[in-house]
Amino acid sequence: MDTDFIDIGTVEDVPVRGSRLVKTPDATIAIFKTMEGQIFAIEDKCPHLSGPLSQGIVHGNRVTCPLHNLVIDLANGQADGPGGGPNGKCVKTFPIEIMDGRILLKPFDVPSEKVA
Ligand code: FES
Repeated sequence: MDTDFIDIGTVEDVPVRGSRLVKTPDATIAIFKTMEGQIFAIEDKCPHLSGPLSQGIVHGNRVTCPLHNLVIDLANGQADGPGGGPNGKCVKTFPIEIMDGRILLKPFDVPSEKVA
């Protein structure tokens, strides 16, 4: 396995249609779980005005920013809606692997600290 991945907890630690945060020296990363149980990791920073995406509403594989309703695709970070669209703004995404019910995150190559 790629040694750049770190264990950040179990899939059960993340509420359905909710999120948990992982802080690294470079970014705060929101770990989302969809209704179907899929896990995604994106930067907790809306590309519009830096709203906290972790506090947004998860629907399908997307999250709606709590500030001005920009919709972000959790899989590729693409924004849709005001200021977004196919050629619009996007959010950083981070690789995730699930192994034996545990979430492994690749937060670039830096050590990280679980904060919530
Ligand atoms: S800060 Fe997210 S839509 Fe404005």
